[in-house]
Amino acid sequence: MNAIVDVQSTDYHNNIYNRYTTLRDDHPVYFDANRNIWMITRYDDVRHLLRHPKGTINAETGHSYIPSLATTDGDLHNTIRKEIIPEFSRGVVERLSPMVESILDELFANLPSSGEIDLYSEVILRLPQLFMTRFLGFPESKADHWYEIGEILMGTDPESNKEAEPEVALRVLDDFAAMIDQVLEEKRHKPGDDHLSWLVSREAAGALTAEETRIFANCLGFAGVDTTINLLGNGTGLLARFGGQRQKLIENPSLLDGAIEEMFRMEPPVQGLPRRLTEDLELHGTVIPSGSEISLVFAAANHDPNHYPNPETFDIERASKDHLALGFGLHKCIGQHVARLEARAYFPRLLAHYPNFEMVESRWRMSHWARGYAALKIRA
Ligand code: HEM
Repeated sequence: MNAIVDVQSTDYHNNIYNRYTTLRDDHPVYFDANRNIWMITRYDDVRHLLRHPKGTINAETGHSYIPSLATTDGDLHNTIRKEIIPEFSRGVVERLSPMVESILDELFANLPSSGEIDLYSEVILRLPQLFMTRFLGFPESKADHWYEIGEILMGTDPESNKEAEPEVALRVLDDFAAMIDQVLEEKRHKPGDDHLSWLVSREAAGALTAEETRIFANCLGFAGVDTTINLLGNGTGLLARFGGQRQKLIENPSLLDGAIEEMFRMEPPVQGLPRRLTEDLELHGTVIPSGSEISLVFAAANHDPNHYPNPETFDIERASKDHLALGFGLHKCIGQHVARLEARAYFPRLLAHYPNFEMVESRWRMSHWARGYAALKIRA
């Protein structure tokens, strides 16, 4: 029998929501022996575990190689989060809108008005990379680092099929973290008008230690770009596949915010994230032993018909705000308004420039935790 979950197969990624249906219906607690991880897929279970994390930790999982806020627990996590969160409120983030708009104007100005367009390389990758470079205050010359870590973190392109050797992958991640350290050090001596300069100013004021600053900066560097690339790409794919919904959005732009939430629900850029159990967990008659790694599969939860009727229908007027694509509770995504800001600027431009676009080439990356395109070309 073929395994229900096989992240190495293109068939799995092309039919991922059918596989999640099988898991939710028949194996709500499923042990994926290939990855030595227990997958939890029903909406109520995933949300409950996010809301009541007792008995779970974020550290010591396959995602905790580089210390970052998302893989930190307890007091350390609370201290950093409390200090940072006001800077990422919707109101504060909105002030970054001119930066996003000007990047997009530049990117779209370089595109032809019709014909075949490599939207992925020209816009979808570029907006989050350029925005984050400027927002954080990275030197523009370091832009190549984003490509390198993206290839490592987000899964291979099935067409190139060249997965980096583990030691090469670790070196790329280490180099990126070292680059963040170096930029932080530079900002301590020569601050600019950017977020990392703000962060080291909080350190100078005694609100954060150097280690706390580093842990947060790492999280921004590793969590803020490829996730947003996937939101823009996956949303573009949905608008291509569901022409009626695209038309509705063109005719009624006030539906945009709801459409973005429905994109999050339907094609979550982060499909699931791990936790380590510090106690036995009993769920649906199965006892998962303390010490095991579990995966909270947000994407399967977002397609649970007990929570969202007709979950495979993309409906931009659906009440989908309570999706779990950004997590929930203690670790809910800090950059959520940044991601929405970029999406709110990108989709109207896409539809204004290419209202009748078709997708002519696309393929999913092969990842065990994320979902995003390795290629996306359109014809306009
Ligand atoms: C579409 C884009 C994004 C998605 C889907 C996404 C998803 C997530 C998810 C699911 C978590 C929860 C982690 C957990 O429960 O273990 C998270 C945490 C986090 N995200 Fe995002 N994210 C996105 C964009 C961003 C951006 C743009 C930034 C920064 C500007 C960011 C910064 C963070 C940080 C700092 C955390 C850690 C929060 C904590 O552990 O307390 N994210 N993100």
